[in-house]
Formats: sequence, C-alpha cells, structure tokens
Amino acid sequence: MDNYEQRFITSTKLENETETENVLRPKTLEDFVGQQKIKDSLVVFIEAAKNRDEALDHVLLYGPPGLGKTTLSRIIAGQLGRQIRVTSGPAIERAADLAAILTNIGEGDVLFIDEIHRLNHSVEEILYPAMEDYALDFIIGKGPSAKSIRIDLPKFTLIGATTRAGMLTSPLRDRFGVIFRMENYTDSELESILKRSAKMLGIEIKEKAAKEIARRSRGTPRIANRLLKRVRDFAEVLGSAIDLELSRKALKIMGIDEMGLDNIDKRMLETIIDNFGGGPVGLDTIAAAINEDNVTIEDVYEPFLLQKGFIARTNRGRIALDLAYKHLGKKRSGGSQLDLFEESADENK
Ligand SMILES: Nc1ncnc2c1ncn2[C@@H]1O[C@H](COP(=O)(O)OP(=O)(O)O)[C@@H](O)[C@H]1O
Ligand SMILES: [Mg+2]
Repeated sequence: MDNYEQRFITSTKLENETETENVLRPKTLEDFVGQQKIKDSLVVFIEAAKNRDEALDHVLLYGPPGLGKTTLSRIIAGQLGRQIRVTSGPAIERAADLAAILTNIGEGDVLFIDEIHRLNHSVEEILYPAMEDYALDFIIGKGPSAKSIRIDLPKFTLIGATTRAGMLTSPLRDRFGVIFRMENYTDSELESILKRSAKMLGIEIKEKAAKEIARRSRGTPRIANRLLKRVRDFAEVLGSAIDLELSRKALKIMGIDEMGLDNIDKRMLETIIDNFGGGPVGLDTIAAAINEDNVTIEDVYEPFLLQKGFIARTNRGRIALDLAYKHLGKKRSGGSQLDLFEESADENK
C-alpha cells in the first residue's frame, strides 16, 4: 500500500494533526460552515431545551470522517452553556468505566462518545437506562438473593458520533431523539472554510487558489485544511505566493489530479473497468484487488467517487459510470451504464 500518497487524502486524522485542528475548529454555529439543515434544527432544539431548563435530547451524528462531528458536538455544548466530557467507544472498556463517567457528569452537561458503534455490549446495556431514564441499574449478589438497585443520574445529553450508522444496534439507535446525517460539503462551502483557516493561520491565499484547493478536497473540511497547510509548505520553499499556479503544481506533486482523485481512487476505478468489465463488482473483491481494507474504501474513498458520479452502487455491486471511463481515457466495451442499472433492477424482482 502506498502510504505516502495516502497521507494527503485520508480523511481520518493524522498524527500531530490534533493541535492545528483545535485551532481551526469553529467555536460557534455561526462560524460552522454548511450543514444548514442541521444548524437550523439545532438552533431550535437548543433554544427550547434552554427555555425549559431541560437537557437537550440525545443526538446522534453520523457521516464520513472529517466532516465536523467532533466540532459540532463541542459547539452544541458551548451553545447550551454546558460542559462537555469527551470519550470514545473503544476507550470505555468496562461497564464500570461508563458508570464512573456518568455519575460524575453535571446536570445538563454533554457526554460525547466518538465512534459509538464500537462500544462493547456490556457497556451498551448500561447506556440504555442511562439514556432513557437517567438511571443506572445494578444487580447485587447472586442467585435468589440477588437484588437490583437503581442509581439516579443527572439529566445529561449524550452526543454519539459514528462513521457507520448501520453498525449501531437498533436499541441504541432508537434511544437518540435526534439523528443527523452529515453531508459532504460543496466546493463553495469548502472555499469559505479554506479562507477562514488561511486567515486564522496567517496564510495569504489567492481567490483562485482557494477555489482550486476546495475543488480537490473531496467534500471534506479536514482534507481542505490539510491541503492548505501542505500547499503553504510548497509556497514557502519555492518563495511564491499561494496562487493558482503554485496550488496546481503542489497538488500535482502530492498526487492529486484535477478532479481531486488520488492514486488509490484511480486504481479502484481502473480495477473495476479493466479487471471486471466495469462492474458490477462487490466491495470485498475490489478491496482485495487493490489491497485496501473495505472499511477504508467504504468510508474514505467511495463517498467522494459516488458524490462526483464516478461510480454507482447497485445491489449487485459497484459499477463504473461514464465519467470514470472519460476521466481515465478508457472506452466502454459494450452497452451503456443504463443497461447495468436495469440489469440489477431486474434482479430485484
Ligand atoms: N463546518 C465546518 N466549518 C469549518 N470547519 C470545519 C467544519 N467541519 C469541520 N471543520 C474542520 O475540519 C476539521 C475536522 O473536523 P472534525 O469535527 O474533527 O471531524 P469529524 O469529527 O467528523 O471527523 C476540524 O478541525 C475543523 O477545523
Ligand atoms: Mg471526530
């Protein structure tokens, strides 16, 4: 696997990135670019909770990495005027760990659990009554003398974040009053994020350069910010301003093409086209062919290829669309992309 190239494009966080991420994190809903529908609802829910002096309903945020789930959770706590306690699914190993967190939380405060789909089962069981009744249930003793005791908890808000809503058990999912799906950002939203980040980092960037970097950021703020920082490195070394020409040069050296695809994207498209006649081909097969794991493909690579219309998902697997052929300069050997959709629709009957 080509780690060097992967470093630029991956939307999961890289080591050492935490610090700049915190600097660049918007602190208020006004500064949080895009996701308008989510923001509109949140304003109402937060106001209502504050007016009634109640805890905000539990919120589930889901969507690919780097779209602002952690950022939004912090903003929600801030707008509520409450503390936030941050943890993650894999970090809570035992039920007692979660119990300790919950009994120490303040009234109305926010508990943020990142990667909530990775909670283990015994921890999850504790969470059900905690979310529903603000209580912990314990069994003390064994056999016929066993007693169940209940401890009341402060009324808190759980914010769960996940890249894979499908992996949440339904009892857990059902206990969230509010479920938001984070969408990929448009190029112009990414452009405003880039301009804001540049200002905060004291980087001067030309309008056209911001547009170009935005276009190649895979709909993901984390990637946009990362590319900005890398392009700045090139600017410093080459003693040039961040203009269109320099940005293009830098992006090219980073292995990111005009549509924002990197070598792994291209290998994936080539595999579908050259080895599987354009598809349909299953995710596992693609993953094995390009030596990547399928979670990464599904979370990191595919959303962008789907969004831009390079590939489509059918119930028999992934197919390469005309744009993929065109972009790679390849010819479809027979039929059209529509045949493939119809074929797979037939299978549904
Ligand atoms: N809507 C947004 N507006 C501005 N910056 C954003 C936005 N969403 C994310 N970011 C930036 O992208 C980075 C990654 O966001 P984060 O909340 O950590 O993503 P996630 O938790 O979904 O992986 C943050 O440092 C933040 O600066
Ligand atoms: Mg996060």
